[in-house]
Amino acid sequence: MICTLHHGDALNWLETLPDHSVDALITDPPYSSGGLTAGERKATPSVKYVKSGQAKQWVDFIGDNRDQRSQLQWMLLWLAQCRRVLRDGAPACLFSDWRQLPLATDALQCAGFIWRGIMVWDKTEGARPHLGRPRAQAEYIIWGSKGSMPLTRNAPVLPGVIREVVRQQDKHHMTGKPTALMRQLVRICERHPDGTGGIILDPFAGSGTTLVAAALEGYRAIGCELSEHYYHVTRERLAATFPDSNQHAHDTAIEQVSLNI
Ligand SMILES: C[S@@+](CC[C@H](N)C(=O)[O-])C[C@H]1O[C@@H](n2cnc3c(N)ncnc32)[C@H](O)[C@@H]1O
Repeated sequence: MICTLHHGDALNWLETLPDHSVDALITDPPYSSGGLTAGERKATPSVKYVKSGQAKQWVDFIGDNRDQRSQLQWMLLWLAQCRRVLRDGAPACLFSDWRQLPLATDALQCAGFIWRGIMVWDKTEGARPHLGRPRAQAEYIIWGSKGSMPLTRNAPVLPGVIREVVRQQDKHHMTGKPTALMRQLVRICERHPDGTGGIILDPFAGSGTTLVAAALEGYRAIGCELSEHYYHVTRERLAATFPDSNQHAHDTAIEQVSLNI
């Protein structure tokens, strides 16, 4: 299996990928959410998303302060590129919170995907409580496909609700997703008849949870991360998860690593 991580802007990187070359898009882009007013939304991710009183100081990530019109335009740009590089019938899964859910479903469809449903990530009772209000316990995975998606695909039945708690020892990014959650989600990617996994694309890798989960489940994965800090977090995480792998930096001006697992 090969896992490749690129350091740079996803939009530029996606443009370099060939048409019809990947089997699933599974990604957790910046939501540009986190507040009811424009001023609140423009705050840094650490102000918007980190519970007060948390001991751990997270390094801020990039691209989380667009207003809704710009977020929609930006999503259309990279989703159109993802659609081009996906094979016909391939699934696309996007994380979103409740505030940006309508925008994200619009973006998926405007980019030419068929919107097929929403899965729920139930973060359990460990999620942020609100006195006198419902606990902020869920995030959403909007899913669709590039054109028709045959029922005969070589993929299992997936849960519609995935209940996974966030464990601090498994968290490597301010908004990092649990590895166990991503291990369930990546199974939406079709396997080849010989049982080997297809190629999973994550243009917003963060700390690399999709890539790690994909490789653990026997898929190949390609990803991109703009933040230098989180690019190195992902590199180190991949090396720690697969200590016997052979990681080599590509010998070019492009900052990119590949891992043979
Ligand atoms: C919500 S986080 C992904 C977290 C990831 N799911 C994990 O478990 O670690 C989104 C990531 O996208 C990165 N990002 C933002 N704009 C980007 C761009 N234009 N190209 C590539 N990465 C970008 C951010 O730096 C951030 O790390």
